[in-house]
Amino acid sequence: MMKFILAIALTAGTGIAAAQAQDLKGDAAAGEKVFNKCKACHAVGEGAKNRVGPELNELFGRQPGSLEDFKYSKAMVEFGEDKVWDEEHLTTYLAAPRKVVKGTKMAFAGLKKEEDIDNVIAYLATFDSEGAKTGE
Ligand code: HEC
Repeated sequence: MMKFILAIALTAGTGIAAAQAQDLKGDAAAGEKVFNKCKACHAVGEGAKNRVGPELNELFGRQPGSLEDFKYSKAMVEFGEDKVWDEEHLTTYLAAPRKVVKGTKMAFAGLKKEEDIDNVIAYLATFDSEGAKTGE
């Protein structure tokens, strides 16, 4: 029964996160440049594959630590148990990954500028599951 309720909660959360993705404050074009800092480990877009880090297509509404073919840290899987990636969680995570998810294996200090965080989130929000740009 608990599992059933959780599934409904997550499904509802997904819908909300997807709706919010349409209305972000960041600038996706500027975010593409910020993403250069992530490219050593992450791919996004058509044909994106997992690298050191998981591919980041259709990130909004996705449960943290949920790609079946990527080996996450236990910390990330536990962090994702009761949430989906949305603007709020991405903002806090990207500012200080190792503080927000203690024990994450993402070896990245975090983005210092709030503007960079908003922009990279807006950039990532433009990719759907196939990595095609949405809303264009
Ligand atoms: C040095 C490599 C590295 C860099 C640089 C890096 N990441 Fe990561 N990232 C990872 C790894 C490894 C994980 C998996 C973390 C875990 O399992 O604890 C991850 C996880 C993530 C996740 C969670 C994905 C999911 O499937 O739940 C997001 C979102 C993310 N990174 C975004 C970014 C962004 C945006 C940047 C650039 C600002 C960035 N990362 C820079 C290695 C990196």
